[in-house]
Amino acid sequence: MISLQHVSKRYGSSLAVDDLSLEIERGEFCCLIGPSGCGKSTTLRVINRLVEPSSGTILVHGHDVRLARPEVLRRSMGYVIQSVGLFPHMTVQENIGVVPRLLNWDKARIRRRAWELLELLALPPDEYAGKYPWQLSGGEAQRVGVARALAANPDILLMDEPFGALDPVTREHLQTELARLQQELRKTIVFVTHDIEEAVRLASRMALMREGRLVQHDTPEELLAHPADSFARSFVGADRGLKRLSRLFVRDFIQPAPAVGLNDSPERANSLFRIDRRLPSLWVTGNGGKLLGWMNRPENGNPEHPIESLVPVDLRSFPLAPDLTLKQALSTFIRFGVETLPVIDQQGRLLGQLSLPILLEA
Ligand SMILES: Nc1ncnc2c1ncn2[C@@H]1O[C@H](COP(=O)(O)OP(=O)(O)O)[C@@H](O)[C@H]1O
Ligand SMILES: [Mg+2]
Repeated sequence: MISLQHVSKRYGSSLAVDDLSLEIERGEFCCLIGPSGCGKSTTLRVINRLVEPSSGTILVHGHDVRLARPEVLRRSMGYVIQSVGLFPHMTVQENIGVVPRLLNWDKARIRRRAWELLELLALPPDEYAGKYPWQLSGGEAQRVGVARALAANPDILLMDEPFGALDPVTREHLQTELARLQQELRKTIVFVTHDIEEAVRLASRMALMREGRLVQHDTPEELLAHPADSFARSFVGADRGLKRLSRLFVRDFIQPAPAVGLNDSPERANSLFRIDRRLPSLWVTGNGGKLLGWMNRPENGNPEHPIESLVPVDLRSFPLAPDLTLKQALSTFIRFGVETLPVIDQQGRLLGQLSLPILLEA
């Protein structure tokens, strides 16, 4: 899909990129990673010819990019950068429509596409289409930047530290959204970051660079488990076991959860407590299996009604969603100091539970 062959870029006497060869397959999420100044952005920019290489060849879909007109090439790839670069005097909808307008799409089609993308990026179109960039938060502006890059439905997305300027919480949100988006859209993405956590989270393959050269090109699992040399080892860090948790998802570790309905009889709760004598509590569900909270094992062994002994939980922060990573789950375990957490779907229905020992074994 994208093939870099012996690419070098010289600035004066120094090499920003030094004889770099890299193959990126269709549908891959390739993270270019490495310390600041190692040549990541330069490598990204030779792909859409924002930078002309000093030597080497770049093929996209098997075609030499030197034979394409730069503006045509750039329109065929989405490009997202840290500072977004939204046009301040254009509305969100107009910003998203920039490339489609260049491609002479008609107005109705541009509007449809903008609305579809705003929905995809969780920005209600009615509310956001007419806003100006200054009316957006950093995270919202970055989402619009991604929508704009996707507007003409390019196969390839080039992203240069797109979330670098965001606060950690917003950043994690956008990472989750991008991962979901990629599951759905299967673009070929080249994503520059110096943040190993971000790369491990998102990448299907990582290209680790140092001083313009490629050190290792591997899946995150391989890179974390078998760093190629001492530089790679120090770059992935000593806590790489913990980082691997970012590659694993709650949905794959769910176990059945012992639960009673809010209107179940005390006898039903007690029979569950009798079946498992070490069970400290039962989840309590309401209408349609929606999680409400839990009830503790009665101390005196007397039957209790779930309605009376319900301990309600904060459903926004306590339960886990199946698409969270185990790393995110671990921080919820630590925050609440519990050994098991319920897992709920988007409608709030109890799907099962995750236990801390299971997580730590992973
Ligand atoms: N336009 C330029 N002129 C001169 N030197 C540059 C230019 N762009 C990048 N460099 C140099 O090339 C090296 C790689 O830069 P860059 O690709 O931006 O690194 P990264 O994105 O990994 O931080 C750096 O030493 C940088 O100073
Ligand atoms: Mg850079």
